[in-house]
Amino acid sequence: MSNIEQTLSIIKPDAVERNLIENIKSIFVKNNLTIKEDKKIQITKEEAAEFYKVHQSKPFYDDLCTYLSSGPIVVMILEGQNAVAHNRKLMGATDPKNAEENTIRKLYGISIDKNSVHGSDSADNAKKEISFFFKN
Ligand code: CMP
Repeated sequence: MSNIEQTLSIIKPDAVERNLIENIKSIFVKNNLTIKEDKKIQITKEEAAEFYKVHQSKPFYDDLCTYLSSGPIVVMILEGQNAVAHNRKLMGATDPKNAEENTIRKLYGISIDKNSVHGSDSADNAKKEISFFFKN
């Protein structure tokens, strides 16, 4: 059955800094996820705190917000069949050392913090995260 969805992807500062934007985008495109919108931006720590609000009770929250706001990022709307789950499969496990071979985090992630990409974890969160960065 067809289930065309959209999801939000972020290329994080560690990957932008290492010039991995095109490598990562090409993985999405080769795997049938269309990049509908994309922009390179830098957000404030306050914006990062709002974006990652679901993690506010976690011990890593403050460092996470400092990190996401520490340099340019690329935010993208990806579209395709089961895009939310498909993107998560292409990213691999949160911690690069647990990620499967050939996933983005296995190929490029440095650590659980500098794990190169973020992707929405559900269709509901995808809607919220897309509207956070792309207001129409
Ligand atoms: P991301 O998918 O962007 O969502 C939240 C981020 O928190 C996650 O990727 C990791 O980079 C970061 N993080 C840091 N420590 C942890 C942890 N112990 N468990 C999960 N995520 C963590």
